[in-house]
Amino acid sequence: MRKKGLVLICLAALIGVICMAGLLVAAEVPDTVTIQEKAFEKFKKGPVTLDHKKHSAEYGVKCDECHHLYKDGKNTWKEGDAVQKCSECHDPKKKNGEAPKLQNAFHSNCKDCHKAKGKGPEKKCGECHAEK
Ligand code: HEC
Ligand code: HEC
Ligand code: HEC
Ligand code: HEC
Repeated sequence: MRKKGLVLICLAALIGVICMAGLLVAAEVPDTVTIQEKAFEKFKKGPVTLDHKKHSAEYGVKCDECHHLYKDGKNTWKEGDAVQKCSECHDPKKKNGEAPKLQNAFHSNCKDCHKAKGKGPEKKCGECHAEK
């Protein structure tokens, strides 16, 4: 009898640990990201809020359609890998090899997909940028 109780307690503790680990991993991927990249220094437009969660869970956009790490011209980034800020590789002032300028990197990533899908903001600045 006592042995069974102990097993149950251990089991409950184990499940607890697994759930906590799950929460920790989930917490790293934010539901929304507000983008106002300091690297721009001066802003012509207000910040942009991306519904990160909806894009993945509802609109079916894969993580690696936005996040990448190129090696030999191939995107090798996969879910679980560290995420660097776009500005770590995209310079606000100049193109860096094949990597477009930061503003173009954001605009192409977001707008090209919206255009291709025929859904999501593309031309109207205010559908992405908040008032300044
Ligand atoms: C699909 C969403 C989207 C649309 C539509 C869009 N932008 Fe952006 N834009 C972004 C994102 C994301 C950034 C990065 C935001 C930041 O770091 O401040 C950005 C950055 C910028 C920047 C550089 C940062 C700054 O504030 O100076 C400028 C300028 C800009 N956009 C102008 C425009 C203009 C003008 C339009 C309308 C013709 C427009 N954008 C429409 C998503 C969008
Ligand atoms: C529609 C484009 C898009 C999709 C899809 C997307 N992300 Fe992101 N994610 C972004 C942008 C943009 C940022 C902000 C980057 C920056 O600030 O330079 C970001 C930020 C992050 C961050 C860093 C958060 C922080 O505060 O430092 C993590 C982690 C992340 N994404 C993971 C994921 C994972 C995992 C998936 C798939 C389940 C995913 N993303 C899907 C565009 C996307
Ligand atoms: C680790 C460095 C790195 C990070 C971080 C990074 N990029 Fe890039 N990006 C590159 C390089 C290098 C290229 C050129 C790839 C090629 O075509 O050879 C590129 C190309 C692009 C392109 C044009 C080609 C394509 O893939 O569509 C867009 C748009 C782009 N990046 C947007 C983004 C956005 C948005 C983020 C942040 C969510 C981001 N990048 C983060 C390095 C990076
Ligand atoms: C690979 C495809 C893809 C990429 C990349 C993408 N989006 Fe979207 N986005 C969508 C789709 C699809 C919708 C339309 C969803 C609907 O209306 O059913 C959408 C809708 C939106 C909307 C309106 C609805 C909402 O959720 O607020 C905003 C704002 C938006 N996207 C911002 C962005 C920004 C900012 C970026 C770049 C950082 C981005 N998106 C990148 C596919 C994409």
